[in-house]
Formats: sequence, structure tokens, C-alpha cells
Amino acid sequence: MAGQAGLEEVVAAQTKLSDIDGKLGRLSYVGYDIHDLATHSTFEEVVFLLHHLRLPRADELEALSEELAEERTLSEFLADLMPTLAQQTSPMSMLRTTISAASAYDPDGWDQSPGANLRKAMRLVAKTPTLIATYHRHRTDQDPVQPNPKLPHAANFLAMLLGEEPDQDTARALDITLVLYADHTLNASTFTARVIASTLSDMHSAITGAIAALKGPLHGGANEEAMKMLEEIGNVDRAEEYVKDRLGRKQKIMGFGHRVYKTEDPRATHLRRLSRELGERHGDMRWYEISERVEKVVMEEKGLYPNVDFYAASVYHSMGIPTDLMTPIFALARMAGWTAHVREQYADNRLIRPESEYIGPLDQQYVPIEERAESESEAAS
Ligand code: COA
Repeated sequence: MAGQAGLEEVVAAQTKLSDIDGKLGRLSYVGYDIHDLATHSTFEEVVFLLHHLRLPRADELEALSEELAEERTLSEFLADLMPTLAQQTSPMSMLRTTISAASAYDPDGWDQSPGANLRKAMRLVAKTPTLIATYHRHRTDQDPVQPNPKLPHAANFLAMLLGEEPDQDTARALDITLVLYADHTLNASTFTARVIASTLSDMHSAITGAIAALKGPLHGGANEEAMKMLEEIGNVDRAEEYVKDRLGRKQKIMGFGHRVYKTEDPRATHLRRLSRELGERHGDMRWYEISERVEKVVMEEKGLYPNVDFYAASVYHSMGIPTDLMTPIFALARMAGWTAHVREQYADNRLIRPESEYIGPLDQQYVPIEERAESESEAAS
């Protein structure tokens, strides 16, 4: 049977972690609606939920928050790598390289037991913000800021990145975006992680592969591309012409469309609100207004809804986050989901090994190299 292009609608894994109803525009983690989680929960609580399949009690949440805070510091090896990586690589390449390198210094080494994998997962979740912030401080010739164990995950990240503690509203806004980005069924990077885990390769290898998949502009890279587009537009009055021109040239508008959602991505609802609120708070509505106009024109012209990445761009920009760190922040949040999926795969594993449909030539006769005519090799290539 012919394969479905892009594996569309193919069910390739069972999971208890998250679920999407693309027609109704619903997303849930472990049965909890994303709207409830975005309104009431925190990133730390969602980390617990995804890894333990239930909400924590107060003492359990405190213990997990402490564990994450304790694990934020980088090993000397990673800290030493950073100045060179800050000069030589893009942020996502840095993250891919350092997460891979972190395996060498993980205290649990090559232990693949469930307990060791849970600890490795928490270390990866805890250290990713420090990696991104340390990289950024080096490349901007500023001293790295040490993690503050008293601050929650989101607030600590902004403090390490920007060198000052964020106000409560900004920290909460970032926290909500992390909740929204934390998991999303079998997206390309999570699928990559599960394929690698299914060979019984280690946690760090699976996450390194996931980061590589997230890097592409059709997946995580879309929020950065969306921000570049908003900057190119520059002014709300130019939005309509820009979008129409781009669509006329058959170019995609980044941050729109989705393989699964056929209506509004429920995450976009919260990000649109946050974009407006942050704009109002900072007295700069430009990015929200351009975004809103782009959304209207794309809907009129193509009937497409914004996905999670579109309004995330203006939200992160309003917080002072550089555009090329937007995909790494997606990774920072998705680390919760990736690591939970890897553990779920290990817990009930079967090698993921689909089939391909052969569409090449049949029954070819091998011709010795000295007898191959130039025209034949050209025709074949
Ligand atoms: N801008 C303009 N047209 C778009 C579009 C976009 N962002 N997304 C989809 N389309 C159009 C395609 O051109 C295609 O039209 P056609 O049938 O006339 O050729 C149709 O919608 C189907 O698109 P396709 O790329 O085949 O859908 P998909 O399910 O394979 O891809 C995405 C889904 C997300 C990869 C796709 O919508 C996209 O590239 N979006 C932009 C990147 C992005 O925001 N990614 C983040 C996803 S969370």
C-alpha cells in the first residue's frame, strides 16, 4: 500500500501524555485541558504531571522545584565549552552540541534504569535554561549570571538571560508560554526522540535528535521566522500588501497552518492575549497590531489559522528575548515533553521500524565499471 506522505493521520505510537482534537481545537496533557493548565498551572507542575501522569501534592511540587533548582548549574566541562560555542555556532546548534556533550558528565552515566532516566530527565529540564542564557551572555560579552535557586524556572531563566529579575507579570507570562509549549503529541521532534529511544539508545541521544528536528523552519524555527517577518513588515499599514505579495509568490506565512488543527490552535488563543497584554504594559502595541492584521489577511486569503509560533514571536520579543533564542526557548519548554515521551517509550518498547514503498527501477543488470557508457550513468542520476 502506498505510504501516506508525511505520515499524515498515521498513528505511530500510543501515549498517555497529551492529546489533540484537531477539529475541535482542543489540547490536553494527561486529560487536563490546556486552557485550565495555562490559567492555573505552572511549568514545574506540568513537568511533574507529564512525568508522573498526575498532578503533584504541595510537598511533591516543592521537592521537584527544589530538585530542578539544584540541578541548574552547568558542569565545568559545559561552562568551558560555552565561550567557543558562543562565537562559532547558532543557538540551536549550541543546544544540540551541549545536550549531547552533557551525557559525558551526567552522574548517572550509562545507567538506563527507570530511576536514572527520571533523574537524567530532570537534569536536562533544569540545565537547558542555563545553557541558553550562558551562551547569550558570552556572545554579548557579558558575564554569565549564576542561577538563583530561590526563583522559579521561568523567572530564573529571564534573570540569567537579561541580568535582572523580571517583574512578576513578565515572569508569569513566560511561565504560561512554557506550559503551552511543554508537550504536543507526536510532533516531528518528539517522534524523532521516540524513534531513537526505541532502539534503546540513551536519553541524551534521543533528546539531541529531538533538538536537531526542532531546529528546522517547518517545526520550531517558525517562531523566529514569524518575528523576522513582523520586523520586515515594520508597520501595520504594510501588513496587508506584504502578506498578499508573499502569498502571490507562493511563499508560506510562517506561524500559520497546522498538520492536525483544522481550527484555532488553542495555544494561540493564550499567546494572542499575552501579546496584547505585554504590548499594553510596555506601551508598544506595534507588534501586536501587525500580528493581528497579518492574521486577518491570512484568514481572508487562505483560510489559515495562526499556530503556537505566530503570537509567541511578539510575546518573546516584548520580553526582550532576541529573535534567534525563540526556538531554543521552545526547546527549553518541550524538554519536559520530550523526556517524558522517551521514558514512556522505554517503559513499553518495541523498535520503531516502518516500511518504505520502493519506487525505483527493477531487475537491473550489473555492468562492470569500465563498460558503463557515460550516457547511461547520466540518465540514472
Ligand atoms: N502559509 C501559506 N500557505 C500555507 C501555509 C502557510 N503557513 N501552511 C499551509 N499552507 C498551504 C500550502 O501551501 C498548501 O496549499 P496548496 O494545497 O495550495 O499547495 C496547503 O496549505 C497545505 O499545506 P502543507 O504544507 O501541505 O500542510 P502540512 O500539513 O504538510 O504542513 C505545516 C503543516 C505546519 C508544516 C505548514 O502549515 C507550514 O509550513 N506552516 C508554516 C510553518 C509553521 O508555522 N510551522 C510551525 C508548525 S506548529
